Amino acid sequence: MYVYDSFDQKVVDERVAQFREQTERYLDGQLADEEFLPLRLQNGLYIQRHAPMLRIAIPYGLLDSTKLRKLAELTETFDKGYAHFTTRQNIQFNWPALEDVPDILAGLAQVQMHAIQTSGNCIRNTTTDQFAGVLRDEIADPRPWCELIRQWSTLHPEFAFLPRKFKIAVNGSPSSDRAAVRFHDIGLELVRNDVNELGFRVFVGGGLGRTPLVGQLIREFLPTQHLLSYLEAILRVYNLLGRRDNKYKARIKILVKALGADAFRDKVEAEWTYLKDGAATLTEAEVNRVAAHFIDPDYASLDDADALLAQQKVDNPAFAQWLSRNVHLHKKPGYAAVTLSIKKLGYAPGDCTADQMRSVAQLADEFSFGELRVSHEQNLILADVRQDRLFDLWEAAKLVGLATANIGTLSDVICCPGGDYCALANAKSIPIAESIQSRFDDLDYLYDLGDIDLNISGCMNACGHHHIGNIGILGVDKKGEEFYQVSLGGDSGQNARVGKILGPSFNADDIPDVVDKIVQVYVDHRHQDELFADTVERVGLEPFKERVYAKSH
Ligand code: HEM
Ligand code: SF4
Repeated sequence: MYVYDSFDQKVVDERVAQFREQTERYLDGQLADEEFLPLRLQNGLYIQRHAPMLRIAIPYGLLDSTKLRKLAELTETFDKGYAHFTTRQNIQFNWPALEDVPDILAGLAQVQMHAIQTSGNCIRNTTTDQFAGVLRDEIADPRPWCELIRQWSTLHPEFAFLPRKFKIAVNGSPSSDRAAVRFHDIGLELVRNDVNELGFRVFVGGGLGRTPLVGQLIREFLPTQHLLSYLEAILRVYNLLGRRDNKYKARIKILVKALGADAFRDKVEAEWTYLKDGAATLTEAEVNRVAAHFIDPDYASLDDADALLAQQKVDNPAFAQWLSRNVHLHKKPGYAAVTLSIKKLGYAPGDCTADQMRSVAQLADEFSFGELRVSHEQNLILADVRQDRLFDLWEAAKLVGLATANIGTLSDVICCPGGDYCALANAKSIPIAESIQSRFDDLDYLYDLGDIDLNISGCMNACGHHHIGNIGILGVDKKGEEFYQVSLGGDSGQNARVGKILGPSFNADDIPDVVDKIVQVYVDHRHQDELFADTVERVGLEPFKERVYAKSH
């Protein structure tokens, strides 16, 4: 894990002190709302439906038990004892009092966390694969590159007032994109060229929101030392040409679409000629300095525990299910990466109580070198668990309600906070997630259905990634009433696709039935071992439409 040096710490501490004064002046009436607005947004503070909302960055999703315990303490002291993990590897406090925010930020600074650049028109938290650095299918660890981007982008003066917010994601596994890089303003995929040098494939102009678009490939191979200068070239072109007259057309995706990928690439390459090999070029020493923070923990030299696990699986089918759903192979023999599900029935997806945070911190200390990760699917991961301790971990996680074996299934719903918290919402989303989870609470049935991504957003801003769910649900407002539009066929991985709308929207009560019918059509049509997403791709939307909109007799 990256550890702040004295420079990082000073920047964060100074920012807390500045914001404390700014908040005091605002509360004293010396600063007007509109003067305070940019100051608070630079510190991740929104004003929401019921209270302020504070968004805290978890750089590339990496946390440790100390940070998590501090988050638990802060939610208890200053909030309602829980917080919400988002799809962007951030955590949000939904009920802080404005006057307490400086104290929250001061608490975060003690554990090297902050809320800088978590909102506003700047480069936001860079995200990555929750399994970065530990899976066998990885070309290289994306985390050092994320950290280099973090250091370069934090408080970068040239990119503090972009036309709109800007999101970068990095992925290191050629066989699987777990960071949805094609749906980011810039998506970077680590690759090797034919002489085995490491570099990046560069995608630009992906994004969700009201104009969902798949990113376009603008460079097949960018040598790693040029990473920052090339990003700088892209951002310059965007900063100069991105639209500032219309908030809804201001994202880079609109610019790339308007110019066409080829013309956009030409502009970037032209800009890059001024920057290439200049000050932003990464030296080997600099890359090594940062990479040294992401070395392997002190792994024991082990063999895979195949025999032991086979026996434990026979003895305990529920453990076997958990292994097959929540546990991933690890690059090191004898280890595994474990996903703790925070999608238990009755809890809003992404919500995590202070008690749960402490439990996870304890599990991380006991089983995974004190570290953990947050996934964009809103779950928590212990990445370095000994295989011979998986059973103990499962038992311990069960006791605290974190062992639901539903990862990747229909009940592992991604969901935004929606109308319960968010001022922009057209409809509630959490109760929809709950109604689907309670309809599909039979694990055996879920296993039979296999992997299905179900994503829910409360409005077209798409915070819950509904466009890229295999099943997507979007809250819409019709003359003051809440309705839900369903789409099918979205995919966030290498076959990136935006889902297609099924047809007219439904009211909330109908949604579990609608999902049920969609699932039945899949079961009727699937070939053996065919995944839901592949069946939808093969048979198209018609059979689903027919069943869902069939007139009842
Ligand atoms: C309650 C506070 C929130 C507000 C006010 C808010 C606001 C917005 C807005 C206005 C957009 C559209 C941006 C655009 O198209 O330019 C957006 C997009 C997004 N937000 Fe949120 N959001 C909130 C919470 C969340 C949460 C809780 C999550 C994760 C669960 C999240 C993740 C995202 C993502 C992934 C996008 C799509 C990014 C893209 O356009 O590519 N946001 N949000
Ligand atoms: S999708 Fe809409 S309702 Fe949901 S959090 Fe984002 S802005 Fe709010």
